[in-house]
Amino acid sequence: MERTLLIIKPDAVEAGNIGNILKIVIDNGFTVKTMRMTHLTRDQAGRFYAVHKERPFFDDLCTFMMSGKIVPVALERENAVVKLRDILGETDSTKAAPGTIRALYGTSLERNASHGSDSIENGKIETAFFFGELEF
Ligand code: RTP
Ligand code: MG
Repeated sequence: MERTLLIIKPDAVEAGNIGNILKIVIDNGFTVKTMRMTHLTRDQAGRFYAVHKERPFFDDLCTFMMSGKIVPVALERENAVVKLRDILGETDSTKAAPGTIRALYGTSLERNASHGSDSIENGKIETAFFFGELEF
C-alpha cells in the first residue's frame, strides 16, 4: 500500500479544521496509519522544506510553518500520493477547485491549510521525518 504525508498546517489547526480535514481524507478511502500534533522549530521547518531553500518564499514559508501547531498524518491508500494531491487542490487556495481541502480551508498561496507529499519517494522520506517505523 502506498504511503503519503499529510500535514494540517498552522492556519487550519488554529481555525479548528483538524476534524473537517481528516473527515474528507477518510471519506476518500485513506487509512490513518499514525498521527500527532507538534510545533516545529525553525530548524525543523527548514529541514522539512529543504528543497525550497533557494526559493524567494523559503523564509516566509518556514515562519508560517512554525507559527503554530501542526498535525502531521501518515496516510495509506492505493495511489495515495496522487489522490491526496487531488483532494488538496492547487497550491494557491484562491485558485483551488471548489470542494478541495485548500479551497475549503485555506486562504492564500502560502496559507493553504495543508501539505501533501509530491512523490512516492517523498511520501516515504516525509513520513519517516515525523514518525519511526515502530509507529506503523
Ligand atoms: P506543499 O509542499 O505544502 O504540499 O505544497 P505544494 O507542493 O503544492 O507547493 P510547493 O511548491 O511545494 O510549495 C510549498 C509551500 O510553500 C508555500 N508557497 N509560497 N509565496 C509563494 O510564492 C509560495 N509558493 C509556495 C505554500 O504554503 C506551499 O504549500
Ligand atoms: Mg511541495
